[in-house]
Amino acid sequence: MKRIVISTGGGDAPGLNAVIYALVQAAHSRDWEVYGSKSGYLGLLDTDELVRLTPDTVKDITPTGGTILGSTNKGNPFAMPVKNLAGEIQICDVSDRVMKNFKRMGFFCHIAVGGDGSLEIAHRFAKEKGMPVIGVPKTIDNDLEATQLTFGFDTAVSTATEALDKLHSTAKSHDRVMVVEVMGRESGWIALNSGISGGADVILIPEIPFDIQCVCDKIAENELHGKHYAIVVVAEGARAKDSGIIHKSDEKKEVGRQEVLLGGIGEWVADRIREIADKDTRSLVLGHLQRGGSPTTFDRLLALRFGAAAIRVAEKGEFDLMVALEGGAMTTVPLAKAVEKRKKVPLDCDKIMTAREIGICLGDFYRI
Ligand code: F6P
Repeated sequence: MKRIVISTGGGDAPGLNAVIYALVQAAHSRDWEVYGSKSGYLGLLDTDELVRLTPDTVKDITPTGGTILGSTNKGNPFAMPVKNLAGEIQICDVSDRVMKNFKRMGFFCHIAVGGDGSLEIAHRFAKEKGMPVIGVPKTIDNDLEATQLTFGFDTAVSTATEALDKLHSTAKSHDRVMVVEVMGRESGWIALNSGISGGADVILIPEIPFDIQCVCDKIAENELHGKHYAIVVVAEGARAKDSGIIHKSDEKKEVGRQEVLLGGIGEWVADRIREIADKDTRSLVLGHLQRGGSPTTFDRLLALRFGAAAIRVAEKGEFDLMVALEGGAMTTVPLAKAVEKRKKVPLDCDKIMTAREIGICLGDFYRI
């Protein structure tokens, strides 16, 4: 009987459980055995942390948020923080232990569900250790270049849009500017999609360094037209033309990559608006709300399709690939290509044009 192992790594995203469901069901229908590795690679490091997944253990999980396997963004086996006898943290390469357990358990394939960090690690296992790996793309940020869309994104955008819808009434009642910081790392997809759909007056994205005067001019223009409130959506990775990215801590160890923990730009923008535009202004950070809850129908379906497609690829014995969405259909791309570069919002895309044409300020002095 064939045996596979599944892991979910990096930040969670709505739809992870739907992928697990599809992987388990599609494997089961081929008489394969499925194991789940808890918290990324933990189960492959310590086999007590492997769980047997059967149709019975995954029934009912498709509409649920999070991941039944748990996830981590600090679990890179090539650079794992380990406590030594003196209690100090040392960075160790424990990838050989992973490979030993992988072989001992008789797995013929590892399906790694993750964002660019987790997929980069999966690719290293394939390239350097010969592990047969298939990647499934996941991130609310939608910043993977090699797939048209990732699951989790649609749910995150819906959550952010719903929040914006609710803010209109309170902003209007108090004649206030509400600044809303959304996630997305260095890509503006969540900000742009939710901002357009949620009726924002201003959307600030990392792809367009903004001029705060331009934002204040838009608020003044609103006033001239009798609109005494405004909604400003700021992507966490957005930055002013003359300053750097704002972040909470100097360093964050994302799986496989060194990254800063973004956050704080919303408050920065709100402070400047208060000073320059002299408007009563409040800021809020939507944060991890965007990662929670039940996946939308779109995300569920995409996640289920990715899961079933990954099993079809495993059946063909093709590895070091990632399943992807292209032109609405399932395809595969080499993992190496999948982690090559992040997907940014193209400045000439129709969403940018739509935003400008419906009167949304993008923080630059562009005029139609
Ligand atoms: O990549 C997903 C994401 O939610 C980003 O949008 C955000 O910057 C980051 O993860 C937050 O990470 P953490 O869960 O470690 O706070």
